[in-house]
Amino acid sequence: MSQLNITESNIPLRAQDGSQAPDAPAWTADIDNPYLHGIYAPTTLETQVDQLEVMSGAIPDDLYGAYVRNGPNPVFKPRFNHHPFDGDGMLYAVYFKDGVAGYRNRWIQTDAHCAEAEKGESIWPGVMGPFDFSLPGFPIKDTSNTDVMFFNRHIISLWYNAGIPYQLDAQTLETKGRENFDGQLTRALSAHSKVDPEKNELVFFDYFDEFPYLRYGIVDHKGSVIHDEPIELPGPRLPHDIGLTPNFVILHDCPFYHDVALLEKTKKRVMTFHRDEPTRFGVQPRYGKGSEVIWFECEPCYILHVINCWEEGDWVVQVGCRSTNPMPKADPAEGELSHMLAYMRLEANLYVWKFNLKTGEVVEQDVDTLNTEFPRANPLYMGYKSRYSYNQYIMNKAHDGIGTLAFGALIKYDIQTGEYQRYDYGNGVFGSETPFCPRRGATRDTAEDDGYLVTMVTDSNDWTSYTLIFDAKNITQGPICKLKLPHRAPFAFHTNWLKGEDIYMNT
Ligand SMILES: [Fe+2]
Repeated sequence: MSQLNITESNIPLRAQDGSQAPDAPAWTADIDNPYLHGIYAPTTLETQVDQLEVMSGAIPDDLYGAYVRNGPNPVFKPRFNHHPFDGDGMLYAVYFKDGVAGYRNRWIQTDAHCAEAEKGESIWPGVMGPFDFSLPGFPIKDTSNTDVMFFNRHIISLWYNAGIPYQLDAQTLETKGRENFDGQLTRALSAHSKVDPEKNELVFFDYFDEFPYLRYGIVDHKGSVIHDEPIELPGPRLPHDIGLTPNFVILHDCPFYHDVALLEKTKKRVMTFHRDEPTRFGVQPRYGKGSEVIWFECEPCYILHVINCWEEGDWVVQVGCRSTNPMPKADPAEGELSHMLAYMRLEANLYVWKFNLKTGEVVEQDVDTLNTEFPRANPLYMGYKSRYSYNQYIMNKAHDGIGTLAFGALIKYDIQTGEYQRYDYGNGVFGSETPFCPRRGATRDTAEDDGYLVTMVTDSNDWTSYTLIFDAKNITQGPICKLKLPHRAPFAFHTNWLKGEDIYMNT
């Protein structure tokens, strides 16, 4: 691979002995794109193991449910430049029950995945274009590779760009097909649509390039679409998340967007951060009309992920990871991939916004400055005041010698003080988003951090992967259990914890 330049300088792409990921498809070898090598290389394996080997510690008896992660695994050589959002979605699940852990990984059988499998090659371009509006479905490949959640008896997978949600069996990971709630859902769903664990409602949003540019809605616990509201924005936006409290939803209008006329002309979506425009957050009654949104203007920023929101008297509070530089300067030496590589170098830090519904006042401030993202909180506290967030430390070129998106440490934040505990995964070891897993039967009466954190790591020194279980009260002591996975688990985006009461109900 000596002809490759971008990949050579990036640590997660090669083992210490120089070897590359052994299970990667052969077509990756000649493509000079770091997101196809090393920890990012797609695997060619779908596997199933009834009982994972315990390397150290023990699986807690009250860890009851499944850790599921979703990430890109392109099957065929891409037609054009590859972006991580283009890889066919694959789910990786570790099932915990009675102190034993099983494992399975499987591709999501999206419409595009199936069509390309039938043809034996790639059909759709990816997010770097060129957009092909003549293709069926989306003009770029809808991979469903970004987010995963459990709702209405099934796993649902989602794509970052607002795509078709897919329904999968929670235990076999078999794709059941498009999830449209018996034909009631006529639109796409964005990643980070949310399931409210208290009301068991799916709160969703969808964004698009035509007026009104955003929709917001709710599916109730029976699977009926009970709310679907247009939200008027000034133009097309790419909101990545929403906030949710018992009475409100918080909608995002960030000044990081594209020009539709330019997209139509160039067939490429060029993102621009408009540093002179405010970020607006729209607080709307949860079951209200789009016309009832109250917009609050804040300092210009982009926000990928909300940690939690709650109500305090007349105030609505939102905590998240905020970026003031969502489009870092591209390095010309990285050629035609330079903008994608820059975009993937996330810069974000823990931040709080407070919106006064009576006076319109906004209070916003940093909680801490460490570059972290992919935050998770105790799901039982969704919409209620919470104290802890479990984030990933984002590695960087200057300090870590890594110019691709890689997670080097697990950070447990106290979001009241900004203080944190830290666990570094180790030299050449890279982590995954780490959800909080409540103990079996836990409620909000249980201490907020009395539970577990489950994650997957991949060791680029020998291409082994592991599942780690932490005691959420104390992560600096390291994992309380380490399980060996049957294959290298490539980089992934989002994860979730599925309660055993939901997924084992028929067993
Ligand atoms: Fe996300």
